[in-house]
Amino acid sequence: MFIDPFGRAITYLRISLTDRCNLRCVYCMPQEGLQWQSRASQLSAEEIARVVKSAARGGVTRVRLTGGEPLVHPHIVEIVRRIASIPAIEEVSLTTNAILLERLTQPLADAGLKRVNISLDSLDADKFRRITRGGDIDRVWRGIAAAERARLAPLKLNTVIVRGLNADELPALARLTMENDWHVRFIEVMPIGNAQDWGEGFPAPSERCVSVHEMKAQLETWNLEPETSPFGNGPARTYRIPNALGTIGFISPLGEHFCQNCNRLRLTSDGRLRSCLVIPNEISLRDALRSGQPLEPFFEQAIAQKPEHHDMLVATPADSQRGMSQIGG
Ligand code: GTP
Ligand code: 5AD
Ligand code: SF4
Repeated sequence: MFIDPFGRAITYLRISLTDRCNLRCVYCMPQEGLQWQSRASQLSAEEIARVVKSAARGGVTRVRLTGGEPLVHPHIVEIVRRIASIPAIEEVSLTTNAILLERLTQPLADAGLKRVNISLDSLDADKFRRITRGGDIDRVWRGIAAAERARLAPLKLNTVIVRGLNADELPALARLTMENDWHVRFIEVMPIGNAQDWGEGFPAPSERCVSVHEMKAQLETWNLEPETSPFGNGPARTYRIPNALGTIGFISPLGEHFCQNCNRLRLTSDGRLRSCLVIPNEISLRDALRSGQPLEPFFEQAIAQKPEHHDMLVATPADSQRGMSQIGG
């Protein structure tokens, strides 16, 4: 079993399938000047399945596919099918912007996908287009409807809160949970990905971050009741508006540490095992995979490197130039 030096069992693997995306959310990617990884540097569906089989032998039972945007990967359905057919894997999920979700939901569900987390940073179509630099919110709503029809549950929505951009929408987004069994999560913006200037009309770097503490204060009148987290053992602290169908979560990668319960390992889009989102240590699996070597020692090495915790409030990650889209969030 994978147990790290601090006694944490590693049972959850996040795989970034590609650094490419069909949107350009301001907090994640600069508009121009991105260097895309070559296709050859990225793992094939068969190689990804081998990595997951090896992880499963060490006790990984859950896999989350991320990106960039995992649905732009040409073999996404095949990747899900291969991973879901590994007996020890209990759950395959993905985090998506939902632009391509409507037509892919059923093939993905048929391939064994269990659930989706969907990014939704505004309820206003124009603002959504500005934040995502061109995204059509109607496609997201159609993707959400398709996910509900296919019973991909629990359905989680991710909102990265930015002061001067969408922080005023907290109450409206929270209200979505009254009538829908959705898990709306508010996320502190991290200085990973696109920490620089976002251009004309966007808040400056020093102004952007709203702490979870402030977010909760904005929702004080709702009398939020604490809840145990819905499925995931993830980073969110969860609450419910009394009698609401869904829940509200707060994700505080900057302030409140969830590192003590961390169960995760990451695979970057160019095939490197990464033991923490924030700490830049990585171990390449690619050459080992391509020369047929066993992968277990690489997993063991990555897990031995897992830090006890990070401190993004004190230090911006040393490799923050490595985009969020390559690491997978
Ligand atoms: P489940 O618990 O499986 O539903 O997933 P999740 O909520 O962890 O995944 P998702 O991809 O929806 O991520 C939500 C937010 O949490 C994103 O902003 C991620 O970057 C952030 N996040 C996920 N895991 C970690 C982590 O280990 N450390 C930090 N700092 N942030 C994380
Ligand atoms: N800070 C916080 N969350 C981020 N995400 C992407 N970039 C950042 C950032 N800089 C979120 C996306 C997506 C998830 C994978 O990570 O909104 O929901
Ligand atoms: Fe694409 Fe997600 Fe990054 Fe937005 S946050 S640009 S949808 S990878």
